Amino acid sequence: MLGLGDGEVGVIDPATLFVDGDDARAILDGTPGDRDALLRRRGNGPFEARVCARDAVLAGATLRLVQFTDLGADRALAARLDGQRAELETLTRRLMSVQEDERASLSRELHDDIGQAITAIKLCASSLMHEPDPPRTSVVTETAHEIGQIADQTVAKLRDLSLLLRPPQLDALGLEAALRWQAGALFRSELPRIELDIPPLDCRPPRDVELACFRIAQEALTNVLRHASAGRVALHLQCDDVELRLRIEDDGRGIPADHRAGLGFITMRERARLVGGALRLDSRPGRTTVEAVLPLPQESDARVGVLQG
Ligand SMILES: Nc1ncnc2c1ncn2[C@@H]1O[C@H](COP(=O)(O)OP(=O)(O)O)[C@@H](O)[C@H]1O
Ligand SMILES: [Mg+2]
Repeated sequence: MLGLGDGEVGVIDPATLFVDGDDARAILDGTPGDRDALLRRRGNGPFEARVCARDAVLAGATLRLVQFTDLGADRALAARLDGQRAELETLTRRLMSVQEDERASLSRELHDDIGQAITAIKLCASSLMHEPDPPRTSVVTETAHEIGQIADQTVAKLRDLSLLLRPPQLDALGLEAALRWQAGALFRSELPRIELDIPPLDCRPPRDVELACFRIAQEALTNVLRHASAGRVALHLQCDDVELRLRIEDDGRGIPADHRAGLGFITMRERARLVGGALRLDSRPGRTTVEAVLPLPQESDARVGVLQG
């Protein structure tokens, strides 16, 4: 650190290590303690160090022990870490925004291109069914009927997928309607039963908070469907002047202790963090709760619009 060669430490005058004579006197002769000081580095410029001075008694003699820690290196490391953290955050934001754009464009593609193509298949099948010449055999009729059915099912699936990728309700009607729609679309069968506690919100949260809340709910609800074997799932939404709270609770088997760390939880946490909030997870057999607390901006001009009724 000081650029000294082997054996030199014991023979040089320690006072010459200090740039400032006051520092040298205080550390070498004053009361033991800690102090920041500028030190000389052989072959290089001075550097900032934390100097800790202590006294020790050895064979009846009092020795002053001095320890140096290079603060420059610590600070450079801290600055590098800060830089990397900021870079990672920018990257994550960019990733989320690219993901949303990508979803929107996929949704458009699915609807405009593939949806139209399947409708065309259905029209062909239908014209085949109604073609009087050549005479129809039962095989042709049945096949045409089947083509029509498959096309219908595919269009329905595509529609669901397209809505899942980009729920139109979120932009148009707001968070509450979008959550109701999503819950209804996911929980069509009898079990698990879904209970919604979504009171009308007084204020409309900013778009990024709404989107974060919606995507977290979407992932948490999908997790219940895929993993929980639950009989009941409840979604609560709560909003006051300060924050938006989303809680999704199921009575399923609980998250296994050795569960795979999935992208779902990572993304939920990131989404909450990027709007300044946090995600809490509490799970045991019979009860799993995922809660997102998302702060709302406090300046009144940052609020967007007011929902009627
Ligand atoms: N509500 C739940 N009940 C039981 N297990 C769950 C629940 N949610 C998540 N898990 C478990 O946690 C794991 C990680 O979830 P997640 O990060 O969303 O990844 P993925 O859903 O892609 O597996 C799941 O694979 C599952 O084992
Ligand atoms: Mg998941």
